[in-house]
Amino acid sequence: MRGRLISFEGLDGAGKTTLSRALAGRLEAIGVRVLWVREPGGTELGEEIRRWLLATSLRELSPMAELFLFLAARAELVHERIRPALQEGIWVLADRFWDSTVAYQAFGRHVVDAERCLELNLLATGGLRPDVTFWLDLPLEEALRRKAGLPGDRMEQADLAFFERVRDGYRWLQEREGERIVRLPASRPPEALLDAVWEVLRNRGYC
Ligand code: TYD
Repeated sequence: MRGRLISFEGLDGAGKTTLSRALAGRLEAIGVRVLWVREPGGTELGEEIRRWLLATSLRELSPMAELFLFLAARAELVHERIRPALQEGIWVLADRFWDSTVAYQAFGRHVVDAERCLELNLLATGGLRPDVTFWLDLPLEEALRRKAGLPGDRMEQADLAFFERVRDGYRWLQEREGERIVRLPASRPPEALLDAVWEVLRNRGYC
């Protein structure tokens, strides 16, 4: 049986990594084979692209080049790791996937319009969409509080208005694809979030 592709989305500092790692542990405990990946990254090329994208010395990287670098990293990850895993029945937990590009590059940077960005995502992934996406929605003030004092990478050094637009992007996606994207308030404690995720997966008959 084909594995499931589950992605985790939200602003920097929303808790995606903690939640996706915790879910991996809970799934493994019931015998599900899991592959955890993060974006950008997860392949040799992807990690190289990640270093490029997050380097603070690259402030002048053109927004269009940035868009295609994220898509290139994703195309490689899907081809090299995600599709083969799904075919073997392995569940893939993705710490960010294609909604990030719509939220950050289309809404945040205004590089392309959102519909076009969705088409580019489809092209890059060969039509692969997540089965379910958990959007950890974090109010901007809380996101800022969580990363106060941290230097931040190139993406994180954008201005406040940028992150407002990113959050609007996630809201837009969730309204558009309410079946796939489940909004979770990121302020809830980690165990409560994990239980909420588990319940969604059970209700859908995934586990
Ligand atoms: P990362 O350190 O993984 O951030 P986080 O811990 O918040 O997930 O850095 C990824 C950064 O890249 C993050 O600021 C979001 C951004 N990003 C995009 O702008 N577009 C994309 O398509 C992806 C996958 C990430």
